[in-house]
Amino acid sequence: MMNLRLLILNLSFVFLLISCSKKISDIDVNQSATIFKYGIASGDPTNTSIILWTGISENEKKLADEMKWEISRTADMNSIVQSGTATLTNQTASTFKAKATGLEPGTSYYYQFSTKKYKSKVGATSTMANNADQVRIAVVSCSNYEAGYFNAYESLADKSLDFVMHLGDYIYEYGPDTYGDKTLSRKHLPAKEILTLSDYRQRYAQYRMDPDLQLAHQKHPFIMIWDDHEISNDAYQTGAQNHQDDEGDYMTRAGIAKQVYHEWMPTDVTANDPLYRQFSIGKLVDVIMLDGRLEGRTQQLETAGPELANQSMLGAQQLDWFKNQLRSSTAKWKLIGNQVIFSPLNMARVRDQQFNMDAWDGYASERNDIISYIDENEISNVVIVTGDTHMSWAFEVPYKASAYKNNYRPVAIEIGTPSITSSNLNERSPSEEVIMGEKMLQVSNPHLKYVDGRNHGYTILTLKQETASVEWYYVSNLKTKTYVERLGKRLHFTLDGGNQLLK
Ligand SMILES: [Fe+2]
Repeated sequence: MMNLRLLILNLSFVFLLISCSKKISDIDVNQSATIFKYGIASGDPTNTSIILWTGISENEKKLADEMKWEISRTADMNSIVQSGTATLTNQTASTFKAKATGLEPGTSYYYQFSTKKYKSKVGATSTMANNADQVRIAVVSCSNYEAGYFNAYESLADKSLDFVMHLGDYIYEYGPDTYGDKTLSRKHLPAKEILTLSDYRQRYAQYRMDPDLQLAHQKHPFIMIWDDHEISNDAYQTGAQNHQDDEGDYMTRAGIAKQVYHEWMPTDVTANDPLYRQFSIGKLVDVIMLDGRLEGRTQQLETAGPELANQSMLGAQQLDWFKNQLRSSTAKWKLIGNQVIFSPLNMARVRDQQFNMDAWDGYASERNDIISYIDENEISNVVIVTGDTHMSWAFEVPYKASAYKNNYRPVAIEIGTPSITSSNLNERSPSEEVIMGEKMLQVSNPHLKYVDGRNHGYTILTLKQETASVEWYYVSNLKTKTYVERLGKRLHFTLDGGNQLLK
């Protein structure tokens, strides 16, 4: 009898173990990773709020009604300060956004999404500080999936940063083997140039399944703007170089591109709102993000001429807003998130065309108007950060480029960040030629203090009350996941008192 009771007890214990292990397997991490296959992201931090984002497998739409988010002071998610239900941002790919509010300034937080059965990974994020001693920002641009592995995104994931600023070309619109490395197995989906709503959604879905990009989003909040390739190459308000008549109505395509961008990005902006916006980091930094593509850009000219006077990069409304932001800012640093090179850049010695007409040189009247405005209003400590070129740059933005050698009068600093993967000059020409070209550019442009067209990576800006520095980090390889990172260059600058130096 005793033996039988013992046997029953033992059997009950074994049964209990089996049922326990079944419950654990129901929420196992691998299954959750399959459900939350697009990872998590956060962005557009203010001093009390942050946007949270996730995307789940299209096969799990039934979970859409129960998507919860929580934000905690600790990484173990045991110190929850806010929680809520996330909003579905589209029905096809099942992407979700939520705005966590009522947070403390200058504070690190952790966040997680969950359904009844599954939990996402835990993400790290932070709010903007009211009284920061320093701000550290990674600046990135130009991540072409077909050009290589996103090793630079992986590298910046473990850096100590306040946020990542993405200056655009987050995706590329081309079909497979059009622009990239044909020898790699990383081929664009859908297998065509993206034109329709489902095309754009599928392209973002592909990029957001990249583990290195997912890691960068998981570890840091992002502040983002688009450049041209989120729409189509050399985009402007009413057209693009890579949009032909037989590809449908351009404005419809641009509208789709905007809509899908906000579905997938942790932006606190809807597709009907302008993308240009401002963020404050106490008295230390005002961040001004510009949209030099869709808001008001006129079509690029073929060459420089009298028509330059009619060219607009920002459009009248955004230009007014920008000037007001500059003039009313009481922060030490005015940090401008910008797409294409702002400084005058004479390329006559290295290219057939003297100026890049897609850059601010093709919109020189408006650029010179902004320079005069900064000068006349004695707006100090303006730092412009720029993407687009797949090169590293440091300019002292001259009041007048032609007089710079004899009348040293910089009005701002401009920093250009290299590409995450998009092609370098030495992937198209021999390195020795590129090095010679870099030297020639500095000879022709004395306000150009650093240039490198041979490396991929990202830039870190560190802004303090008295000093600032910029560091370019380069990765050794894109073609495999085996690589090393190195500090390629560091420059310091101080802008107060008229002696605005990069050294
Ligand atoms: Fe690019």
